[in-house]
Amino acid sequence: MSDYILELRNISKRFSGVEVLHGVSFSLRPGEVHALLGENGAGKSTLVKVMTGIHQPDGGEIYLNGERVTFDDTLASRQAGITAIYQELSLFPDLDVAENIFIGRQPTTRAGRIDWKTLYREAGRLLDSLGVQLDLKQKARSLSIAQQQMVEIARAFSVNARILIMDEPTSALTLNEVSDLFKLVRRLRDEGTAITFISHRLEELYELADRVTILRDGYYVDTRPIQGVERDELIRMMVGRTISNLFPKQDVPAGETVLKVKNLTRSGVFRNISFELRKGEILGMAGLVGAGRTDVARALFGVEPATSGSIEIEDREVKITSPEQAIRMGVAYVPEDRQAHGLIPPMSIVANISLPLLKEYATAGWVKERDERSSTYEAARQMELRAKNMWQKARELSGGNQQKVVLAKWLATQPRILILDEPTRGIDVGTKAAVHALMSKLAAEGMAILMISSELPEVLGMSDRVLVMREGQITAHFTRQEATQEKIIQASTQSI
Ligand SMILES: Nc1ncnc2c1ncn2[C@@H]1O[C@H](COP(=O)(O)OP(=O)(O)OP(=O)(O)O)[C@@H](O)[C@H]1O
Ligand SMILES: [Mg+2]
Repeated sequence: MSDYILELRNISKRFSGVEVLHGVSFSLRPGEVHALLGENGAGKSTLVKVMTGIHQPDGGEIYLNGERVTFDDTLASRQAGITAIYQELSLFPDLDVAENIFIGRQPTTRAGRIDWKTLYREAGRLLDSLGVQLDLKQKARSLSIAQQQMVEIARAFSVNARILIMDEPTSALTLNEVSDLFKLVRRLRDEGTAITFISHRLEELYELADRVTILRDGYYVDTRPIQGVERDELIRMMVGRTISNLFPKQDVPAGETVLKVKNLTRSGVFRNISFELRKGEILGMAGLVGAGRTDVARALFGVEPATSGSIEIEDREVKITSPEQAIRMGVAYVPEDRQAHGLIPPMSIVANISLPLLKEYATAGWVKERDERSSTYEAARQMELRAKNMWQKARELSGGNQQKVVLAKWLATQPRILILDEPTRGIDVGTKAAVHALMSKLAAEGMAILMISSELPEVLGMSDRVLVMREGQITAHFTRQEATQEKIIQASTQSI
């Protein structure tokens, strides 16, 4: 008998002739959390897709409990007890929690109808056994991302998952939600489930993982018990060099005020938002997911305008009622959900970066190609974009590299006011440092940056000042010197 429930040996994988996994090995024990670590494009998601039967390997073998197997499709791997939860969640928005858990396998009565009583009872039992509290009749569309993940996990365990793979499950969660998820993961591990966990947040890996396997450029680097590896060594194995400064914030004297927001309100969403943003400044906006930060950003960008209050740009009161207007006034907004709102997957990197406007925001005829491409190439280079070449289709890029394309696109528009919503979500440590350096450089050149971030180290490391929002209102305002992790958490969670 093998120690391992699942073992991959010498897996290689090619996409149209280009090898992206070169003889990678990975082994998973029951009752362990095994982290998979590597830069954007290192091959983590591809390896996961080999484990789940989405991709067929071009070389190498897979063993399940010591026996050689092949997974021709996801069904085959699921029957072997393997379930993956991807970042793009796959619930049916109009079905409720219980229906989603049993989708396709609803218990039926003797007459062949869905046996609703049994369905709700079993769903309730399952959630109880997982220690998850959810309203069984709530529609999936109104669940938070964290709750949707819980439903997906419940669904996996309703079919007896023995191997659970989580590809960046925490990137859109709040601190509390992450801790709930970790509680659940630990509990499943203690019951013997084998868990593969991907995250770019090293502190999470140290908190949760037992072992870590590192990939670099599609090559296997090493597998180690994580407690025995120092953070710097982990980074070096992953990026092939040391990174000395994760938050390379330059000290820039703030210039004149470019944006002044007074009592901005959108009924029922946020109210009385007032702040100023100056040239050369990075203003951090902290708070829990759902506190209304993105809504404020969308109002400033004219997507869903405010209902009252005022906005001044360079001392002139303006009404921003559409993104085109916002862009004309020098405002750019990089949305948090970049896969959905910022990227045109079938188009090339060049096309994606050089289109100055998001497709959905553009009115017909408005989009025209920029004349100078040099700034777009420059932005891509600064982002350390990993691609075959600039004509590769965006959808073929790894998740993190897709993010970089969208960031690069907006930077190429050279805005006066740049609003970044979770700028480094899903981006690996090495590139994170590069994005931070770039933000700092842009600020030093006079750009005014509003940075929404749920990652406290990023907020503390990059902001000149920090605003904290909770339930649609600003609850605190700190200078760089005053701001601490504790103060921000307190202001994010205290009741008003
Ligand atoms: N369908 C595809 N066609 C062509 N190339 C692909 C395809 N899927 C992935 N690749 C390439 O394979 C490599 C590995 O991508 P993968 O998504 O596995 O990276 P990753 O480690 O998950 O990165 P990230 O941290 O950004 O999610 C990348 O160079 C990517 O461009
Ligand atoms: Mg990935």
